[in-house]
Amino acid sequence: MGKKRGFLITFEGIEGCGKSTAVRSIHQYLGNLGRTALLTREPGGTWLGESIREILLNPPDTEDIDLTEEAFLFCASRAAHTRKVIKPALKGGYDIISDRYLDSTFVYQGVAGGLENDELDYLNRIATYGLMPDLTILLDLPVDEGLSRRRGAGAMNRIDKKAITYHSKVRERFLELADMQSDRIKVVDSSGSREMTLKRVKAHVDRLIQQVSDRKKKK
Ligand code: TYD
Repeated sequence: MGKKRGFLITFEGIEGCGKSTAVRSIHQYLGNLGRTALLTREPGGTWLGESIREILLNPPDTEDIDLTEEAFLFCASRAAHTRKVIKPALKGGYDIISDRYLDSTFVYQGVAGGLENDELDYLNRIATYGLMPDLTILLDLPVDEGLSRRRGAGAMNRIDKKAITYHSKVRERFLELADMQSDRIKVVDSSGSREMTLKRVKAHVDRLIQQVSDRKKKK
C-alpha cells in the first residue's frame, strides 16, 4: 500500500485577520494529532519565492512594478512553491499549511485591477499545476478591526480612508469567492477571542480529516 497523501490547507484573509497565529496553532494541532505537517507561506517557501517576496514587498523607490508584472511574480513564486515544496511534501504524506495561496492572487491582483478574473484564473491554474487546496480557511473580520489590530490600539485615527476603502474591497472579494466556492473555502469569523477563532478553525480541520477517513472506509 502506498503512503497516504497529506492535506493542503491554506489560510487567507485581510490584514490583521489573525492568520499568523492560526497557521502556527493548526500546525501544532496537526502534530498533536500524530500527523506530520509543514508550515509554509506565499510569496515565499523556496529560494525563488523568498527572493520574489523581497522584490515585491520592498522594491527600490526608483522602480515601478506594474500590475501585470506583479501578477506574474506572485505566480512565479507559487509555481516554484507548488513544484518544489507542496507537491513532493503531499506525496510524502505531509500535510501542508500555507499562509496564502492562489486565492490571494485572485483577490489582491483582481482588486488592483490590472488583469481580468479569467486571466487571473488561468495564471493560477498554471502556477498551481491545477493543485487546489483540500480546505481553505478565510479568516474574516471588519476591516477597521483588522487594521487597528495590525497597527496597535489607538492607531485607528491614523488610518486613512483610502486604506479602509481598499481593504474593504479585498474583504468583499474574498467573501464573494468563498460564496462561489463554499465547498472548499470556509469563512471563520475572527473578530472574537483567539480561542474562539481557533476552536472554529479546528472544527473545519477535524471535519476534513473525518471526511477523508469516511471516504476511505467506503472504498
Ligand atoms: P505579508 O507580509 O505576508 O502579509 P500578510 O501577513 O497580510 O499575509 O505580505 C503578503 C502581501 O502580499 C499581502 O499584502 C498580500 C499580498 N499578496 C498578493 O497581493 N498576491 C498574492 O498572490 C499573495 C500570495 C500575496
